[in-house]
Amino acid sequence: MFKLSEAGLKYVKNELTRYETKQSAIIRSLYRAQEENNGWVSPEVIQHLSEVMGIPAAQIEEVSTFYTMFNKEPVGKYHIQVCCTLTCGMLGGRELADTMMKEAGCAKLGETSKDGLFTFSKVECLGSCDTAPMLQVNRDPYIESLDEKKGIELVKALRAKGGQGAGGVKEL
Ligand code: FES
Repeated sequence: MFKLSEAGLKYVKNELTRYETKQSAIIRSLYRAQEENNGWVSPEVIQHLSEVMGIPAAQIEEVSTFYTMFNKEPVGKYHIQVCCTLTCGMLGGRELADTMMKEAGCAKLGETSKDGLFTFSKVECLGSCDTAPMLQVNRDPYIESLDEKKGIELVKALRAKGGQGAGGVKEL
């Protein structure tokens, strides 16, 4: 049974006061709830937000399934989203993702490594094409201008950090 923390509840209630319609607060509330639910939006998260926000669960689910930044399955501590659209794809984004997944111990996309640290997704253009290939870890700032060697180093650096967030590994 999922419930927002006290701070999370306060956050969502405050979001509800910021817009003309309650629906406008759904995205930011989903972000908060996802963070508090180990990185994914479960049916319980949707139900709880529906009760807290006074919005039908179907509307919240619609938003959560439309946007790729909301995970529909549990993910590892580090959800690594590798851009594989045109520019990143042409400059090695797919190979980068495959190499990093191998290093992390993930046999396929969406699978979490046995140590619980890594889950990989290939995502559409993240708007940083001039620094391709690039990726994003959780909601942290982009990690850009990568190659396979840097990708392996990134996985190793994140593994060394354990569950402490991806901050500080950007400048590899
Ligand atoms: S194609 Fe990868 S950021 Fe645009």
